[in-house]
Amino acid sequence: MDTTFEQKVADALANPKNLGEMENADAVGTAGSAGCGDMVRLWLKFKEENGRKVIDRASFQSFGCETAIAVASLATEAIRGKTAEEVLKMKSTDLAPDLGPLPPVKLHCTQLVESALHAALEPSAKPAEPAKSAPTLLEQITTQPERKMKVVFLKDDQT
Ligand code: FES
Repeated sequence: MDTTFEQKVADALANPKNLGEMENADAVGTAGSAGCGDMVRLWLKFKEENGRKVIDRASFQSFGCETAIAVASLATEAIRGKTAEEVLKMKSTDLAPDLGPLPPVKLHCTQLVESALHAALEPSAKPAEPAKSAPTLLEQITTQPERKMKVVFLKDDQT
């Protein structure tokens, strides 16, 4: 794997942006499978700006590899100020342009983030569930039977 790519991922991981659940989000999207262990959840908050409804803030949680975490972090910044329609037209490479082209083996990490965005923004998407009734991503992934995993928390004071 290209060391430049690895360094860019390491840099993004060293300072993850917008990490953690968002209270009072307008939309939430989850992608992946708790069964295989790769999951991303994104929370979105909108605002009105010049007559357009644009994304004001986004945050994420990820139980994926380092690349998925880096892409999710960068994506929460890349989609700020964009409408849902604009975000849905973004290619996976637009979500984390700082990483450059991803190695083929890492493409699904970006697709995981892209799918979570689509889950949150597609017209059929449900509004964000009230925080108390929705399972957290941690609850969702750790309630899978017969699954051994190690959960590593990043510091959330870097948002
Ligand atoms: Fe599975 Fe990156 S999310 S390898």
